[in-house]
Amino acid sequence: MKKLHFGLFENAQANDSGRATWRHPENQRDQYDTLDYWMTLAKVCEEGGLDFLFLADAWGWAEVNGERPDIASVEGLDLPRLDPFIVASAILAHTSKLGVVMTGSTLLEQPYAFARRMATLDQLSGGRTGWNIVTTGTADTAVKAFGVPMVAHDERYEMADDFVRLVYKLWEGAWEPDALTKDKQGNFADPAKVHTIDHQGPYFTSQGYGNSAYSPQGTPVLFQAGASPAGRAFGGRHGECMFVGGGTVEQLAAHSKAIREAAVESGRSADSVKVMAEFRCIIGDTKEDAQRRYDEVLASQTPEVTIASYAWFTGLDLSAYDPETPMTELHTELSQSQVSRFAGLTVGDVLKDWHEHGVGSKAFVGTAEEVADHVIAMAEGANLDGFLLSPVIQPGSTIDFVEKVMPILRERGVVAPSEGSTLRERLTESTSPTLPADHPAVSARAYESVTAAS
Ligand SMILES: Cc1cc2nc3c(=O)[nH]c(=O)nc-3n(C[C@H](O)[C@H](O)[C@H](O)COP(=O)(O)O)c2cc1C
Repeated sequence: MKKLHFGLFENAQANDSGRATWRHPENQRDQYDTLDYWMTLAKVCEEGGLDFLFLADAWGWAEVNGERPDIASVEGLDLPRLDPFIVASAILAHTSKLGVVMTGSTLLEQPYAFARRMATLDQLSGGRTGWNIVTTGTADTAVKAFGVPMVAHDERYEMADDFVRLVYKLWEGAWEPDALTKDKQGNFADPAKVHTIDHQGPYFTSQGYGNSAYSPQGTPVLFQAGASPAGRAFGGRHGECMFVGGGTVEQLAAHSKAIREAAVESGRSADSVKVMAEFRCIIGDTKEDAQRRYDEVLASQTPEVTIASYAWFTGLDLSAYDPETPMTELHTELSQSQVSRFAGLTVGDVLKDWHEHGVGSKAFVGTAEEVADHVIAMAEGANLDGFLLSPVIQPGSTIDFVEKVMPILRERGVVAPSEGSTLRERLTESTSPTLPADHPAVSARAYESVTAAS
């Protein structure tokens, strides 16, 4: 079995994935807007030996039939939130090993400025950054807010492809890794190692010099979580680490296989992509104790929350459908995986058992030993490289996992050693902080072919 990597799912807002958990007496997530909250969490992650803290992000807001329901404000479901890049900056400044993965939208960001922002954080952190590439599943309200045109689901992936090819040129091709000599008796930068880029894509163009020098990793570690056919093809081409949502071992195994096949189709090896499954658990001293703790969380939910959250991610109003409608008959131009992951269920099933089938993954409830057994069984059964821990109560759920489950997993010898100072070295077991030769970003080092030819 592969040695496993662990990251923590977080969100710079009061709830996660459209669940209303902030009211729980032990949950400190409503403190997301304080530095103390993030510093406590960063310390727990770093000292607990997690590889990274992941900051999810979404633009837009929940809208059911054109209106933002009051429940969205009453429960703080979608808004307000903080900028993940600025939160990341604080976390990176207060840690020395932990990676931080930020979510950035290829529909809404401006690639030239985005490239500099990522390079800055990679530089200042000594190469501890990752980018979760999203096409923005919540696009319909987000485009209204940004005043930009709506782009259909599959076309958003073509746009993403253009976006990444431009930022690859800026990160990999504009400044050679050893361009900065900072020699007070000689040059600050070697002019022969500073290049112009030229990108004339269908969506983005850029010509001239890159604004930042080569950072420790060059390109931040590339994360992706698209689950639709277009999303998987994109992930297979560009992703180094793919997140998959929850599901049965069989569903996860099929998903993990499809992602690796997509990588092979793009000329990369099946193992060049790390597949990490979102994992949510509630740990108790006994199974009954864990279940009681989970019931307390569920008690604070209402079906209106699910309807609002589902509409936010898909634009669809579940309450408007005949309950017998198979979920797979629904169609959306927003997040298609929020439809396909419910294959086999009807709209009524999802609404009836909404807390289990909601937008996030189903929680595993048990003792620390049972959680460890389950994690190992899932990893073996689905050929996973690791897990993205999706805590229910913060920071308690994360503390429970790192203090109670991680020691058992370590004792069983299944935790990756995570050596190296950059996120790429820790996650991919590579001895180099930069991308491997089979990644498409490497061809953006146009100067290499010039040097080789001359
Ligand atoms: C663990 C995980 C984390 C995700 N984080 C985000 C996020 O932060 N922002 C976002 O817009 N989408 C996020 N997504 C959604 C996907 O990135 C993807 O955009 C969405 O599934 C729609 O694409 P698809 O229709 O190809 O699946 C996440 C998905 C998973 C499984």
